[in-house]
Amino acid sequence: MAPDGLKDALGREMKDLRISVTDRCNFRCRYCMPLEQYEWIDRRQILSFEEITRLASLFVRLGVEEIRLTGGEPLMRHGLENLVSQLAGLEGLKDLSLTTNASLLGQKAGLLARAGLQRVNVSLDSINPQKFRDMTRRDYLSDVIAGLSTAAEAGLNPIKVNSVIERGINDGDILDLVEFSRSNGYWIRFIEYMDVGNSNNWISERMVSKQEILELINARYPLETIERADPSAPAVDYRFADGGGKAGVIASVTEPFCRGCTRARLTADGKLVLCLFADDSHDLKKLLRAGAGDDDILDSIRSAWESRRNRYSEERLEAMNSGAYEPGSRRKLEMISLGG
Ligand code: GTP
Ligand code: 5AD
Ligand code: SF4
Ligand code: SF4
Repeated sequence: MAPDGLKDALGREMKDLRISVTDRCNFRCRYCMPLEQYEWIDRRQILSFEEITRLASLFVRLGVEEIRLTGGEPLMRHGLENLVSQLAGLEGLKDLSLTTNASLLGQKAGLLARAGLQRVNVSLDSINPQKFRDMTRRDYLSDVIAGLSTAAEAGLNPIKVNSVIERGINDGDILDLVEFSRSNGYWIRFIEYMDVGNSNNWISERMVSKQEILELINARYPLETIERADPSAPAVDYRFADGGGKAGVIASVTEPFCRGCTRARLTADGKLVLCLFADDSHDLKKLLRAGAGDDDILDSIRSAWESRRNRYSEERLEAMNSGAYEPGSRRKLEMISLGG
């Protein structure tokens, strides 16, 4: 329910809020945060759960229906279940979910589910221990697999597995990931490697396209198209023709979906970011900590959203098609501070 029909400059509503609760992460995925040292957000700048909940309630008043908790790794934030229970109580919120690397999910899934979390998406790029290590630079595969099972036992549903595919690294793991997910009742989604942030030194040759991924899966497990859950969803969904569950592909590079993008992002230090590839933000924490009233904060969010024209992935595709795209030519915020 968007009470005042809030739309951005390209006519898109604001329906989803992705909240990063920390920029810390216990993994160092090669495609996201390969650096061991990084300039982390000062702890005093991190929003408290009360501050996050206050801002979230204002976003919900402006029409947001779905909230996704992200990081860094959101489970690195102590007591996350307390935030979940505060958010779960927001009237008008239809979906409350978490995107996690699942290494700590075994300890947390029950608490989170009881606090009102509905579902989880888990990043897992290989079920081969050596490849897992190559992708994440950590040795937590067995924790991740256990975390997935605990999430299912706790009743979180659906459970989606997100796999970023990087050519020459884990492109040989696609069918194993499909089989692992099918046999456990998880919903597998493959993600085209994106040029997000600056640290991963992205080059297009490393990206495996949606078409390649689908051809490979189809040859072994024929797929039927379901299409998008809703026009704003990043993933295009499929079902296995033999009844073995669902799969999806997020093709932000070859088939961008900016036209339907209804996602706002809030960083752990309270900045509103209007696109995953933005290099600027709107400082809501400053307002919050200066004692601003709800109306002032609402006005600030509203005016930021109304001026939003971001459509980076569509522009990237246009530039790639005309030969004008240069990776690394533009500074972007790091994925780890935006939570994807
Ligand atoms: P569901 O609601 O379960 O479908 O989740 P989701 O796909 O919206 O979110 P998730 O956190 O699982 O992210 C999956 C992948 O999609 C990650 O690589 C995200 O970075 C990417 N993604 C999510 N939203 C956007 C977006 O607005 N633009 C782009 N380019 N990628 C996005
Ligand atoms: N390209 C595509 N997906 C990425 N993610 C992180 N970095 C990238 C990238 N460069 C994914 C993670 C996680 C989600 C939040 O974002 O795998 O599932
Ligand atoms: Fe990997 Fe997610 Fe951590 Fe990035 S935030 S390094 S994708 S686990
Ligand atoms: Fe939305 Fe930006 Fe992603 Fe396009 S690139 S879908 S505008 S977040």
